Amino acid sequence: MSWVTDLARADIRALKAYEHAAWEPQLTRMHANELPWRVAGDPSSAGLNRYPEPQPPPLVQGLARLYGVDPGIVLVGRGSDEAIDVLMRIFCRAGQDKVIISPPTFGMYGVAARIQGAQVVTVPLLAERGFALDVPGILGQVDEFTRLVFVCSPNNPTGNAVPREVLLDLARHLEGRALLVVDEAYVEFSGVPSVAGDIAALPNLLVLRTLSKSHGLAGARCGALLAAPEIIALARKVIPPYAIAELTVEVVAPLLEPVGIAAMNARIAELLSERKRVAQQLAGMPGVERIWPSDANFLLVEFSDPDEVLRRVRGAGLIIRDVRQPVLPRALRISVGTPAQNDTLLRSLA
Ligand SMILES: Cc1ncc(COP(=O)(O)O)c(C=O)c1O
Repeated sequence: MSWVTDLARADIRALKAYEHAAWEPQLTRMHANELPWRVAGDPSSAGLNRYPEPQPPPLVQGLARLYGVDPGIVLVGRGSDEAIDVLMRIFCRAGQDKVIISPPTFGMYGVAARIQGAQVVTVPLLAERGFALDVPGILGQVDEFTRLVFVCSPNNPTGNAVPREVLLDLARHLEGRALLVVDEAYVEFSGVPSVAGDIAALPNLLVLRTLSKSHGLAGARCGALLAAPEIIALARKVIPPYAIAELTVEVVAPLLEPVGIAAMNARIAELLSERKRVAQQLAGMPGVERIWPSDANFLLVEFSDPDEVLRRVRGAGLIIRDVRQPVLPRALRISVGTPAQNDTLLRSLA
């Protein structure tokens, strides 16, 4: 056990994992209390009457290839949301431990922490510096109860990425004290490199990836935690054994092959060109006060009259996200759509 796993709850470290039904596909399954018949209309090849293989190897290996890491550092979950929840449960003792988040940021870190009974310490992003991460502020908040520091890069909803060197430097400063969880849900839309390749050198660096954004698979619910093997071992004890549905495995695994990845890259290129076009056209419109630079698949836009904007786009049959909060009192978040959807949006605001 390293100092990294020493940060985990002692009861989770000691927990004996649930023993799921043995996976021996060469034998006829009469050991898992499943029904022996397939149901009519079952589109799967394995049969939905059967439990799926835990941590399905085609997905673990496919995601490892995709992210350029060893399969031993991959945990597949139902989106990165599940990884966030699993991390809270491994590392945070209710009523004692703390996580640090930097708002404005993705809401699930705070929600998952509160569900677990962990204290949420906030170190706001520096709005006056383009929502840069306040590294000294974060380090100043770390104490003996701090377990997880969440950094979203590119950040939702501000859209900016944190440079790799800043992340690695933060991880090094947290050494021996806390884990750095970098959420890279939108990294494929940015020019910044992932820090996944740095996990081998920095055991307190954890990375969240997802197929929900650039891969267009939000409905499949598939994401990954990339972390040192001893953290993955703890996570495998905490995640439900049959978390990943067989249909997800059968649909997603082939899409991780080179043809699927090439198609994804083409979609990203189109999305980035639309992001630029929408930003340029919005910039010329009355009532648009500020468009924040985006490294993601959305634009954070400040309007002089956001209520009127919400009314107009809804009238055009569209919905955009109201992200108003004290530091962003007039901001709305727009996910970049297809060229036709973007045209509808721009017409509704013209
Ligand atoms: C920053 C960030 N992380 C994670 C998620 C959740 O992604 P998933 O669909 O993989 O659970 C989102 C979803 O919007 C997000 O914005």
